[in-house]
Amino acid sequence: MYQIKNESDYIKSYKASVEDPKLFWEEIAENNFTWQRKWEHVLNFDFSKPEFKWFEGAQLNITENCIDRHLNDRGDKTAILFEPNNSEEKEEHITYKELHVRVCKFANVLKDQGIKKGDRVCIYLPMIPDLAIATLACARIGAIHSVVFAGFSSSSLAARVNDAACKMVITSDGSFRGNKCIDLKSIVDEALDSCPCVERVLVAKRTHTDVAMKVSRDIWLQPLLDAAVAVCPIEIMDAEDPLFILYTSGSTGKPKGMVHTSAGYMVNTAYTFKNVFQYEEDDVYWCTADIGWITGHSYIVYGPLLNGATTLMFEGVPSYPDWGRFWEIVQKHRVNQFYTAPTAIRAMAKEDLSHVTKYDLSSLKLLGTVGEPINEEAWRWYHKNIGDEKCPVVDTWWQTETGSIMIAPIPTAVKPVPTFATLPLPGIQPVLVNADGEPIEADKTEGNLCIRFPWPSIARTIWGDHQRYKDTYFSKFENCYFTGDGAIRNEKGYYRITGRVDDIILVSGHNLGTAPIEDCINEHPLIAESAIVGFPDDIKGNALYGFLTVKSPVNSGEEKELHHQVNQLIRDKIGPIAKLDKIQFCSGLPKTRSGKIMRRILRKIASKDAENLGDTSTLLNPEVVEQIRDNAL
Ligand code: PRX
Repeated sequence: MYQIKNESDYIKSYKASVEDPKLFWEEIAENNFTWQRKWEHVLNFDFSKPEFKWFEGAQLNITENCIDRHLNDRGDKTAILFEPNNSEEKEEHITYKELHVRVCKFANVLKDQGIKKGDRVCIYLPMIPDLAIATLACARIGAIHSVVFAGFSSSSLAARVNDAACKMVITSDGSFRGNKCIDLKSIVDEALDSCPCVERVLVAKRTHTDVAMKVSRDIWLQPLLDAAVAVCPIEIMDAEDPLFILYTSGSTGKPKGMVHTSAGYMVNTAYTFKNVFQYEEDDVYWCTADIGWITGHSYIVYGPLLNGATTLMFEGVPSYPDWGRFWEIVQKHRVNQFYTAPTAIRAMAKEDLSHVTKYDLSSLKLLGTVGEPINEEAWRWYHKNIGDEKCPVVDTWWQTETGSIMIAPIPTAVKPVPTFATLPLPGIQPVLVNADGEPIEADKTEGNLCIRFPWPSIARTIWGDHQRYKDTYFSKFENCYFTGDGAIRNEKGYYRITGRVDDIILVSGHNLGTAPIEDCINEHPLIAESAIVGFPDDIKGNALYGFLTVKSPVNSGEEKELHHQVNQLIRDKIGPIAKLDKIQFCSGLPKTRSGKIMRRILRKIASKDAENLGDTSTLLNPEVVEQIRDNAL
């Protein structure tokens, strides 16, 4: 059974998926996709290695399933509906037939430029159709794409390019974002000064700005596409061949290149897209994420196209030319399913409601949210003002590592409840465990959220570092996957995700590890030490608070300058998203006797919850706590 149409379908499917997971996923795989060869085993796994193999022995190509398979029945249907940053520029409708030609041509360009199966290709593009097409072109020839969000700085880009040893970078002259025009190509040039692995850079034209082209490395994309052959046979991929690498922040060290493979990812994203969004044939579906994040991979590109959907791609931002832009687009394209992040909802809720009410939003059938916990106020605003109290608000919990949605109310089966992601999707077996790894049976108790049985789209490894994969996700608790999130389960079995239990902070839904930011700050010659914690922010969910110590005393004017320099350093090394909202200079940081910074105390101070700091007497330097508290911002 592919589509869950009511509560009893959900109950039946869920039960079947737990009683016989192999049979459950096998039936879905068998009946809904095109395979070049069928599997020998549905699943082999071992949590201790860890190793997960889904549909082993099968052969396929995901782009055959995303595109070719639809050509007969849906060839003239819009596959990608592109809405430009500038509302006066015309939208672009790319039909399945056109998508086929454009992906084939792009794939042939990649081949002509020496890209082969297994090569890594970094894609650093704005939200223009070439981004989706480049991604699919890689998949068509078996190259592993590594999309890097085009808001990342040159050093973040360089780190990702080098980690995966990418042979090629695909970028554009520039990008439009609101009223800004960003010089992407020069960011790439700066990054590639330290990336000897890159042989070729393909440059799309978007802003038509002048850019430097490095001889024998950089080539304009369009003339190559114009000259390319419009047919490109699929590369036959094994089920477990890598499809892509996507980086996500770790709480320590460099970002983790999560590796997703072909067959399991395909089956899982397609199934969850259909059920969570209840997509029907003529619907227009819009996810506002960037393809640089997992949400865009799974629910702008792969999930929708696997279902033959029309997926809208928006280049711009919600505030340009004004805060009504999203709703203007919903009205213009009669959008049926709309999927966004709590941060965007909170930002829009702060603005005048006339930005919403002047548009006709009656086409909407479903509203989704993802990326961070959604507070009740934002949920209700969304439900009332956008959904007219008629559209279910589907709070979807999942991660880069999980590949597809894990916990969410399937709208035909489960009535959504604010602040709860509610029930696991079929095939997903969550468990809450205490600090000792014992399952928590009681309701309303907080625990560490783990998943005790593999699902098809689980990331298979961290690129180049399987040990880190094991240590991060499979070592703290035995025989399950540890999500890094805390959660509460109520008496109905509904899950509420309470947030990260590690040193990752979600700022506007983006994962930021504290250690990489601290490492970056500590590079400043005047800074001795730093500790970053999150504090609540009305719009971003969390904002960053830095406690810094300096090597030699500075006056208040110098502090101001240092504040600016620290944020500039973060902007250059990591990206503007990781900038600190507050910086407090301190004489010392509270430490345990073994020298570990007591972040718990700093977190409380930053959150203005410093009344009861617990026992600080065991600290190495209890006296600094009071100083820090007295000078808190
Ligand atoms: O803490 C959870 C939070 O975002 C983390 C995953 O981030 P990322 O890998 O960037 O993927 C985001 C998009 C899938 C999770 O560990 N998170 C994601 N969705 C929710 C959420 N927290 C609460 N509720 C959600 N719906």
